[in-house]
Amino acid sequence: MARFVIEGGHPLKGEINISGSKNAALPIMAAALLANGESIIENVPNLWDVRSMAFVLRALGAQVEDKDGAMRIKVPSRLYYEAPYELVKTMRASVLVLGPLLAKLKRARVSLPGGCSIGVRPVDLHLKGLAKMGVDIKINQGYIEAKAPRLKGARIRLDFASVGATEDLMIAAVLAKGRTIIENAAREPEITDLQEFLIKMGARIRGAGSPVITINGVDRVKGVHHKVIPDRIETGTFLLAGAATKGRILLKGANATHLKALINKLKETGVGIYTGKDFILVEGKANTVSADIITRPYPGFPTDLQPQMTSFLSICRGSSRITETIFENRFTHAAELQRMGADIEIDGKSIIVSGVKKLTGTSVMASDIRCGAALVVAGLAAHKQTKVLRIYHIDRGYENLEGKLTQLGAKIKRIK
Ligand code: UD1
Repeated sequence: MARFVIEGGHPLKGEINISGSKNAALPIMAAALLANGESIIENVPNLWDVRSMAFVLRALGAQVEDKDGAMRIKVPSRLYYEAPYELVKTMRASVLVLGPLLAKLKRARVSLPGGCSIGVRPVDLHLKGLAKMGVDIKINQGYIEAKAPRLKGARIRLDFASVGATEDLMIAAVLAKGRTIIENAAREPEITDLQEFLIKMGARIRGAGSPVITINGVDRVKGVHHKVIPDRIETGTFLLAGAATKGRILLKGANATHLKALINKLKETGVGIYTGKDFILVEGKANTVSADIITRPYPGFPTDLQPQMTSFLSICRGSSRITETIFENRFTHAAELQRMGADIEIDGKSIIVSGVKKLTGTSVMASDIRCGAALVVAGLAAHKQTKVLRIYHIDRGYENLEGKLTQLGAKIKRIK
């Protein structure tokens, strides 16, 4: 299995381009199934989760090709209705094909995705919402078997502002009869990007970015051209790597308005951050101080940056309390960071990180995408050599991480 070997202690310097957003690209790829014909999606990052979604779309009968840096998705008028376990188990977001399959084929058989290392992660909110739209749902041998002669608009109030459920229901409602109103919808920028894509396709939808999304069903939509927004989690990871190594890096193509919660916290610790329309410059400082973090749905502090933030705070002066409210088991990085010399105490849903002067490299293991990213951030800042094992998790969510870090002067190698 591949691993990263990092010689730490080198401040990152220089500039890189930020890739397109993984979490925006995945639902947009699923939504492309709504049209008969071709959609061209630019700025799709080249990483494993995107490849996994392409496998799912192909299994359903679509043609998916990468051409000149853009993804072309050609959808035939007849699709298969089944997304098998072998494909869905590799990535939860595959469950997003449920909405478009029901909208188009009136039936879908999609494997239940199961849990993952950060938590149980059920899809009950997706299913409750679809049931309100007239879908008959059965769980049979680990599969969601869903049927609806015609999806009908409904008023759906989500018990929690789930990103995936909001996206699934938005997509399903596009071709439903009548009006769907999703209340307590997730407000993430990726939802707004999905809305932009759907509007171009001919959907009548408004409200993304607010807690209420309204969709007036239409009879058909068409394939379109779209460019995906920049990846705010990749951007945040690099900001934290720059801060932790006390470097100075320019992130080109980044959108600072999507990262206000992180930027404000970094400023609170003493890091220099300068933003423009499409860039962020981060200037690490020697005497950064602690900050308390609580993860929340957008626009709160993103759970997907909590592990990397933990790595940074572990070398800031003072004591930081980090509280995770989105996932029940998202502190697997803490035990690995302790092995590098971090002082971390677990206290229920929180960890208390008392800053140490330095981390020291050793072998550590990634257990999910962002845990892996956190260990890379720690390894870049640590003294001596860090080996990060199981980097296939990192490859799921980061495009060319070691290439970009090398461009910034990091000493990082992938060992097969
Ligand atoms: C998306 C992101 C993921 C991010 C997460 C939270 C993608 C592809 N992934 O995941 O990177 O960490 O948002 O910002 O965009 N829940 C239920 N029932 C449901 C749905 C969710 O209980 O039907 C719970 C989950 O178990 C979890 C919480 O709600 O504890 C948040 O999940 P959700 O917002 O749905 O996250 P994802 O869409 O899976």
